[in-house]
Amino acid sequence: MDVTFTVNGRQAEVEIDPAETLLAVLRDRLRLTGTKEGCNEGECGSCTVLVDGLPLDSCIYSAAATSGRSVETVEGLTTDELGRDLQDAFVAAGGVQCGFCTPGFIATLVAVLRENPSPSEAEVRTALAGNICRCTGYSQILDAVAATVSGRNGR
Ligand code: FES
Ligand code: FES
Repeated sequence: MDVTFTVNGRQAEVEIDPAETLLAVLRDRLRLTGTKEGCNEGECGSCTVLVDGLPLDSCIYSAAATSGRSVETVEGLTTDELGRDLQDAFVAAGGVQCGFCTPGFIATLVAVLRENPSPSEAEVRTALAGNICRCTGYSQILDAVAATVSGRNGR
């Protein structure tokens, strides 16, 4: 079957297997390999992308359900001011170590900060409950979020 949707602002028409996941279509057909495959079971958040602005695990989201929707991946979020600010803050704070989890964290956090530009640490922690990082212990990631929030609110 063919599915048409928007990816990072561009229309994509892709022939898919009806059982295919959005993650597989993004990585294997569209070569958007910034989105990572971790558990492939909806548990780790490394595959998080935005669909119509909402973060979701693309490894358990049907590509067919993407028809007519707007998808943002980490590649697109590098040209988004908020996404870029977050990525710079992650690097500066040491929130990127192996980096495997980072695209998923960035996608989730873009959604969070678009909705609420000044979240409390508790709200950030709650929002990130579905994103697992095995390297940082999370404190550098929380520092990066705090730096992004204070930097953007100070502009
Ligand atoms: S790879 Fe999708 S949640 Fe882990
Ligand atoms: S930086 Fe390695 S899993 Fe998060």
